[in-house]
Amino acid sequence: MKILGMVCSSRKMGNSEIAVKAALMGARDAGADIAMIRLTDYRIEPCRGCMTCVFKKAPCPIQDDAHRVYETLLEYDGLVLCTPTYILGPTGILKTFLDRGMGFMYGYGRKLEGRPALSMATAGIPGWEPYALPMNALFLRALGYTMVDQFMVYGQGPGEAIYHQETLERARARGKAMVEHIARGKVDYLGEEAPTSCPYCHNDLLLFTGGTKVKCPNCGIVGRLTIKGDQARVDWESIPDRWIEEEVIRHFEHQVLPSGPRFMENRREIREKTAVYRQFQVPGPHGE
Ligand SMILES: Cc1cc2nc3c(=O)[nH]c(=O)nc-3n(C[C@H](O)[C@H](O)[C@H](O)COP(=O)(O)O)c2cc1C
Repeated sequence: MKILGMVCSSRKMGNSEIAVKAALMGARDAGADIAMIRLTDYRIEPCRGCMTCVFKKAPCPIQDDAHRVYETLLEYDGLVLCTPTYILGPTGILKTFLDRGMGFMYGYGRKLEGRPALSMATAGIPGWEPYALPMNALFLRALGYTMVDQFMVYGQGPGEAIYHQETLERARARGKAMVEHIARGKVDYLGEEAPTSCPYCHNDLLLFTGGTKVKCPNCGIVGRLTIKGDQARVDWESIPDRWIEEEVIRHFEHQVLPSGPRFMENRREIREKTAVYRQFQVPGPHGE
C-alpha cells in the first residue's frame, strides 16, 4: 500500500511539510510505503483552454510537469494534501494544477475515484482561512478522492505548527486510519460535521439561493435551512453530488462535449459578430 504526501508550499520545513510528514508517519506506522512531493518543485503552467484532454481525450499539449505529477498521484493508493493559506484560500499552484487535471477528472477516466485523501491547510491566524479547506475539498472531490478528514493546522512562522501537537497527532492518526480504510475497502469520514455541513464535502460554506434555499458550492447539492433558537440545520434534497462518477460523466457528455459541435456550427456567425472586437485594437500598458 502506497501513500503520497503533497505539500503546496515552497517553504522547506514549513508547517505544511510538518503536517504532511505527521500524517505520513501514521501511514508508515500502519505499514504503508510513503513518499512526499512538493508541488512548487514542479513546473506547472496555467491551462490554455484548448480542451484537448476533454474533446480528444488526449494528453495535454503543454510540455511541463503537470501530467507527470498526475501520473504520480495514480501510483499511490491515498493522498495526504496540505496547502498553506495565502489570502484566505489555498496557494494558487493547487488551483493551477487542478485546472490542468480535466483529463484525470474525465477525459482519461476517473482512475482516482474512491481513493482516500486527508485534507489539511495551514494558516497563521484562525478565522483568516475561509476558502482553504473548501478549496482543498474541491480539488480532491473533483478528482474523485474520498476524504477521511479535513482540518486546519495553525502556525505563522515556519515550524510553529509544533505548538499544536494535538493537531499533529490528529494528522498522524488519520494517516494511519487511511491505510486501515484502504485495507478494509471502505473509506469513512472521521471529521466533525455540523447539522449544516454538506454530506459530501463536509464543508459549511453555503450559498443562499433564495429564501431559505441553500446550495453547497462545491458539490452543487441544494437544501433548506431551518433555524430554531440559535440552532441551524440544513435538510439536503437527495440530488446527487456533482462529483460522483456518473454525474461527472453526465456533465461532460451532456453539457461540455455538445459545446464543440455547437461552436463549429456557429463559428462563421461568431467570427462575423466578433469582428468589431477583433478590429478594436487596444495597446498594452505603456503603449506596447
Ligand atoms: C502571501 C501570504 C499570504 C498569507 N495569507 C494568509 C491568510 O490569508 N490567512 C492566514 O491565516 N495566514 C496567511 N498567511 C500565513 C501562512 O498561511 C502561514 O504562515 C502558513 O503556516 C504557511 O505555511 P507553510 O509554512 O507550509 O508555508 C499568508 C502567508 C503568505 C506568505
